Amino acid sequence: MIIAQTIKKVKEVIRRVKNKKIGFVPTMGALHQGHLSLVKRAKKESDFVVVSIFVNPLQFGPQEDYKLYPRNFKKDEALLKKEGVDLIFYPTPKIMYLEGFSTYVEEVYLSRVLCGVSRPGHFKGVTTVVAKLFNIIEPDIAYFGQKDYQQAQIIKRMVRDLNFPIKIRVLPIVRDKDGLALSSRNSYLSSEERKSALVLFQSIRLAKNLVRRDIVESRLIIKEVKKLINSKKYTKIDYVEIVDPLTLQPLERIEKRGLLALGVYVGRARLIDNAFLVSPKKKAKV
Ligand code: PAF
Repeated sequence: MIIAQTIKKVKEVIRRVKNKKIGFVPTMGALHQGHLSLVKRAKKESDFVVVSIFVNPLQFGPQEDYKLYPRNFKKDEALLKKEGVDLIFYPTPKIMYLEGFSTYVEEVYLSRVLCGVSRPGHFKGVTTVVAKLFNIIEPDIAYFGQKDYQQAQIIKRMVRDLNFPIKIRVLPIVRDKDGLALSSRNSYLSSEERKSALVLFQSIRLAKNLVRRDIVESRLIIKEVKKLINSKKYTKIDYVEIVDPLTLQPLERIEKRGLLALGVYVGRARLIDNAFLVSPKKKAKV
C-alpha cells in the first residue's frame, strides 16, 4: 500500500495505473465500518483502489468542530491495509490549498436546503474539495455513503453539470446493532447521550409505521417525529423534513416516495440520518 502526501506523488502513481479501473473513496479519516463498506465495494468493482484521508477545513464553519474532529492516521492506515487498498492520499491543508487559494466549486440548488441552512458554506467546501480530489486522482468510480444523502445528491449534480467522467455509487447506511448510523462524530457522545441518539433511528421506525398505516401527510408525520425527539434528554432538533428524494424540496404528502431527513444535535454532536418513506399504495402496485 502506497501512502502519498503530495499531489505530485499521487499523479505519478496514477499515471502508472492509468489503464486500470480506478475506484476512489474520499474520507476525512476516523474510519468505521461505514467507510469500509465503501472500500470493500470499490475492491470488488475496480482494479486499483484509492482512499483519501483529509479533514477538509473548507467545509467546517467557524463555530464547528474542525479542531476537534477525530484523527487517527495509524489506525486508519492499518484498517485500509487489511482491506487491500492500493493508495492512500493523505495531504495537509497547505498542500490542498495553496497560499491565496481563491477558486471554488459551488452547487446552488440542492445545497440551499436541509444541512445547507444551518451550515452555510459547508457544501461549497465539500464540492470544492471533491472536485479537486477528482482532478488529482481521476477515478472511474467514486463511492459515497447514503447517510450523507444530500452530499451524495450534490456530488452527483456536480459530476453531471461539470462533465466529470466519473460514476458515483451511493451505498446503504451502515448501522450499529441498536440502529445508530455509524458516524465518526458518534465518538463525541457520552454513554447517556448515545442512548438519546438512538432517537434518530426510532424516528425512522415511527415514520415508517405511520406511513404503513396510510398516514402520508408530511405535516402529521413530522409532528410525531419532533415530539419523539423532544422527549429525549440532550437533544436539539436542527431539522426534521420530508422531501422529494431528487429535488430535496419539501413534500406535502407522500404520494409515492419521500425522504425523511433528520438533523439533530445530541450533546455537542450534530447527527444526521435519513430513510425513504414509500406510500403503501405505491408498494401495492410494485
Ligand atoms: O463525507 C465526507 O467524509 C466528506 O464530506 C468528504 C466527501 C470526504 C469531503 O471532504
